[in-house]
Amino acid sequence: METIKRTKIVDVLKSTDFGTIVNVKGWVRTRRGSKQINFIALNDGSTINNVQIVVDLDKLGEEYLKPITTGASISVNGTLVQSQGKGQSVEIQANEIEIYGTADPATYPLQKKGHSMEFLREIAHLRLRTNTFGAVFRIRHNMAYAIHKFFHDRGFFYFHTPIITASDCEGAGQMFQVTTKNLYNLKKDENGSIIYDDDFFGKQTSLTVSGQLEGELGATALGQIYTFGPTFRAENSNTPRHLAEFWMIEPEVAFNDIYDNMELAEEFIKYCVRWALDNCKDDVQFLNDMFDKGLIDRLQGVLKDDFVRLPYTEGIKILEEAVAKGHKFEFPVYWGVDLASEHERFLVEEHFKRPVILTDYPKEIKAFYMKQNEDGKTVRAMDVLFPKIGEIIGGSEREADYGKLYNRIQELNIPMKDMWWYLDTRRFGTVPHSGFGLGFERLLLFVTGMSNIRDVIPFPRTPKNAEF
Ligand code: 4AD
Ligand code: MG
Repeated sequence: METIKRTKIVDVLKSTDFGTIVNVKGWVRTRRGSKQINFIALNDGSTINNVQIVVDLDKLGEEYLKPITTGASISVNGTLVQSQGKGQSVEIQANEIEIYGTADPATYPLQKKGHSMEFLREIAHLRLRTNTFGAVFRIRHNMAYAIHKFFHDRGFFYFHTPIITASDCEGAGQMFQVTTKNLYNLKKDENGSIIYDDDFFGKQTSLTVSGQLEGELGATALGQIYTFGPTFRAENSNTPRHLAEFWMIEPEVAFNDIYDNMELAEEFIKYCVRWALDNCKDDVQFLNDMFDKGLIDRLQGVLKDDFVRLPYTEGIKILEEAVAKGHKFEFPVYWGVDLASEHERFLVEEHFKRPVILTDYPKEIKAFYMKQNEDGKTVRAMDVLFPKIGEIIGGSEREADYGKLYNRIQELNIPMKDMWWYLDTRRFGTVPHSGFGLGFERLLLFVTGMSNIRDVIPFPRTPKNAEF
């Protein structure tokens, strides 16, 4: 076959160079047709749209076309022409086709449309080749790019915090241990505790649950930083919103108070949503049409309204009133409770009908590092609650006072020997500062309209599942 430089299908579809010879390569979505003429829908991942290859069977015999079935990979040389058919503006009249690899119809799992999401999760290595997952992962890439652009344009520095750590940022004890010790022969002291002196790092270490603590070190030197990396939580929650391995974006800004922090969070999330609407049109439209007819409306809705800002205590009152009026929640509502996603969604979807930033939570249900309020009961926490998702962002103003932070660490029995470096930020040139964490997959759930978080990350890690 003649060698012609490949054109990506996304570019071919935009081209108006009719009459030129082009080369495209990709995977066959379908082949159909008659004894005279065949139509191959070809996709190369560069766009949701396929290019139609028109094959004259006088030119390329029927026998030759037989192995070109759904899933096969081919290279096509042909003439770019204006399309007569509906739904596309260009097509390619094939001169030559080379078959790279066949996909036996008897065993290739992606035959028909309409596989269940559950089935596709079992073949996560191949589901990437479906329209749906192509759309989701192109959007995922675009969102990552938008996030870096947002922060870079505003003078933030991308700060790389460690994946392996000896401290538990969120204090929830949901960490995956990292060790090179022989698990069949663990050395223990007289109390039965494992001795880590001879472990790789000489101490007990885990995968990080958050880069925040190290992020604060960056922010109190570089002014404003953000992290964007994998995060690990061994919480045994099998829900459509939890992963054991997820990606988190954590901006941290020196001199910002909680109000600046809320403003940044709102601006940031709106920027990401607008980016998806402007730059992922075909993919968002596809997901809107196929899965979630309200998707585009919901995305535009979030851009339109100011987010509600509401203290936790007020939020509880609203929920209690709803209960008094007969609204049924699965979990109880009372001051001090850690809100369940049904409560968060009630506030957002039914009460206010727009995103809500809930602030000033009881200190007992929040992490040790949050700035303590004068009332002695609440802290300057802020959670951003979204329609269909619930909590999409968690953050706070940080406790900048050395004494108050020291006491809180002691109260919570957090080992002080692991915290000396963190406390040093408050010992030397302490400043007010704030930050938050956005769950990247929660943002993607919102932007794609997918209903399960396992479907917005290529290879999900959840309890009892680490395939691929
Ligand atoms: O609310 P979280 O636990 O906050 C922190 O980790 C802070 N250190 C962030 C900060 O202030 N720098 O987590 C932040 C966000 C949540 O709002 C949620 O979107 C996401 O991370 N998240 C998860 N996403 C998927 N699976 C999980 N298991 C998640 N846990 C949290
Ligand atoms: Mg949280």
